[in-house]
Amino acid sequence: MLIKVPKASDCHESDVTPESLYLSRRHVLGAAVAGLAISGLSRWAAADNVERYAGVEPGKAPSWFSEKFPSIEWGAVNVKDEAITPFKDATHYNNFYEFGTDKGDPAANARALKTQPWTVVVDGEVGKPGRYALEDFMKPYQLEERIYRLRCVEAWSMVIPWIGFPLSALLKEVEPTSSAKFIRFETLQDPKSMPGQRSGFALIDWPYIEGLRLDEAMNPLSILAVGMYGRELPNQNGAPLRLVVPWKYGFKSIKSIVRISLVSEQPKTTWQSIASDEYGFYANVNPTVDHPRWTQARERRLPSGLLKPNVRETQMFNGYADEVASLYAGLDLRKNY
Ligand code: MTE
Repeated sequence: MLIKVPKASDCHESDVTPESLYLSRRHVLGAAVAGLAISGLSRWAAADNVERYAGVEPGKAPSWFSEKFPSIEWGAVNVKDEAITPFKDATHYNNFYEFGTDKGDPAANARALKTQPWTVVVDGEVGKPGRYALEDFMKPYQLEERIYRLRCVEAWSMVIPWIGFPLSALLKEVEPTSSAKFIRFETLQDPKSMPGQRSGFALIDWPYIEGLRLDEAMNPLSILAVGMYGRELPNQNGAPLRLVVPWKYGFKSIKSIVRISLVSEQPKTTWQSIASDEYGFYANVNPTVDHPRWTQARERRLPSGLLKPNVRETQMFNGYADEVASLYAGLDLRKNY
């Protein structure tokens, strides 16, 4: 399924590919393909694997991922006029508290996470509950690339090319009952491989939990990701399966998911449980509602440094208002932060 999302997505590959890579590929492709539409270029690009992006470390993809790889629909949703964050930054500046609280901890510690075999449970208010090996869980889904902004509640942001499939496709598959109003996600709990879960200082009551309203989950922008930068997900980014909800603060995008439950009541989420006055259930990116301890009007786009802080204005719903604002018609976003 090639999702057409107007405004935020209608652009050319030259807008989102690092310029050097784009120019070198244009040189190779020559005039013969210069006039091709995005889908044509994208099919060509599917063959060049991780070379699609600069500096990507190749991973060890499981066989189900390699089998699906050639049919990925590349560039299905893009971000216009914003450079993709270098792979190194996206994989070495992470929040994954199961592996430590410093930004470098997940890259350093997540190697021990065993992502094969991996089991996903789907339960609760569904007609078709199940317990699946990940390769079976993935069978029905067409993978596509989604280039999305990721805005952390801590006021930094990135642009990441994810590989995943729409959450709505999963919901169609498992047949929610009429009592299903919310979807609840749970991360793996495995203190042996997750040092953060062994720490006596952790504020989090493990496992990490997140949730969405059913209509938010059905929105075409909500995806379950299994890859990024043309390869499978690195462990520190939430391998082998994570949520990506680009109009919400990054903490909603829960990593390393083992359970997906359809429920009738709004689930109690991890950050809400830790500090409900600072982190709400909705967590929609909103430059007009500040965090109690800092402004949300601006953000640091990574990479950023002292000499080049790379600060930009934060956009309402992280730039996806056209696609999602209607979900919140009549809701007071100041109260429902
Ligand atoms: N998921 C789990 N299980 N544990 C976490 O600590 N951190 C969240 C989110 N998902 C987190 C998580 C936060 S705060 C952010 S900003 C994003 O993951 C960061 O994703 P990234 O490291 O891939 O950029």
